[in-house]
Amino acid sequence: MKRRLTKAEKAVFELSELNKLVFALREAGLKNGLWKPTADDPVFGNVWRIGDMGEMNLAGRTALVTGGAVRIGAAICRSLAAEGASVVIHYRHSKREALALARELGGRAVQSDLDSESACERLIAHAGKLDILVNNAAVFHKDSLKTITAKKLTDEFWPNLFAPILLTRAFAQRVKKGAVINLLDRRITSLDDSCVPYVLSKKSLAEFTRIAALELAPRITVNAVAPGAVLPPPGKGKAYLKDNAGPLPLGRLVKPEEVAAAIVFLLKSESVTGQTVFVDGGQNLLGNLTLDT
Ligand SMILES: NC(=O)c1ccc[n+]([C@@H]2O[C@H](COP(=O)([O-])OP(=O)(O)OC[C@H]3O[C@@H](n4cnc5c(N)ncnc54)[C@H](OP(=O)(O)O)[C@@H]3O)[C@@H](O)[C@H]2O)c1
Repeated sequence: MKRRLTKAEKAVFELSELNKLVFALREAGLKNGLWKPTADDPVFGNVWRIGDMGEMNLAGRTALVTGGAVRIGAAICRSLAAEGASVVIHYRHSKREALALARELGGRAVQSDLDSESACERLIAHAGKLDILVNNAAVFHKDSLKTITAKKLTDEFWPNLFAPILLTRAFAQRVKKGAVINLLDRRITSLDDSCVPYVLSKKSLAEFTRIAALELAPRITVNAVAPGAVLPPPGKGKAYLKDNAGPLPLGRLVKPEEVAAAIVFLLKSESVTGQTVFVDGGQNLLGNLTLDT
């Protein structure tokens, strides 16, 4: 025989129904970019915390993503926003894309050419209050020992290495508690002689990740994500990527969203620092070896 619910049971049932409704609204709102809940929101902040009990989210945090207007950077911005973070989208030339993405995600766009110490300091100052820095901007050129010049080295080292270091320094000076993520490349485990300045810049950034992690602990975590073949360089097609990707143990190219998911994982892992997550279908395991196919 059915019995009537007690008052307490009814209250719990109604609360869980309300919670379900709020979650459905939250999902729809986040998808459409209409809702940006923050942890200190007097109503939804609490519901968010009850619903996500035991799991941290990025609500209430602000992230600067360099080179965030297009390609992998844009995927990172979308994933951070979907986790509730506010995004500051840095761009150099991609103004139209940066402004459109800022509109889509309810974030801000900031322009800067990352080619000097003062530019890096200005960018952090203009970005406002920050909790997260994602050093994503980079350039990639094919240059062997035969073709490199001092200018090519400097041009590549500025966005790929010097700027991430100087941005991290400026970020650490302003932020009490935060997280830095550096974008590396699975090539850091190889001796790739086809893009010497690029590989050297990313290998150095990998070392810097570990050095900074120790120096900035316990206030700031510093981690890295090393993608494999994700997108062809701007102006090249998918065929170029397949031809140049190298051997793929898992037999698949990496999706930008998978790189972004690793970043979200690291940002939620408060006990992890100085680590590199390879999102490369296993390519880093090969080093300079090739697959026997
Ligand atoms: N694509 C891949 O398959 C792949 C593989 C392994 C690792 N990665 C790494 O993942 C990250 C993202 O890759 P991606 O291919 O999406 O990058 P990307 O398109 O080559 O570059 C990202 C953005 O960096 C900005 N940038 C370049 N030079 C700059 C400078 N001097 N000052 C300021 N901004 C500058 C550009 O912004 P604007 O467009 O606004 O000018 C560019 O859109 C990079 O760090 C890359 O090395 C990528």
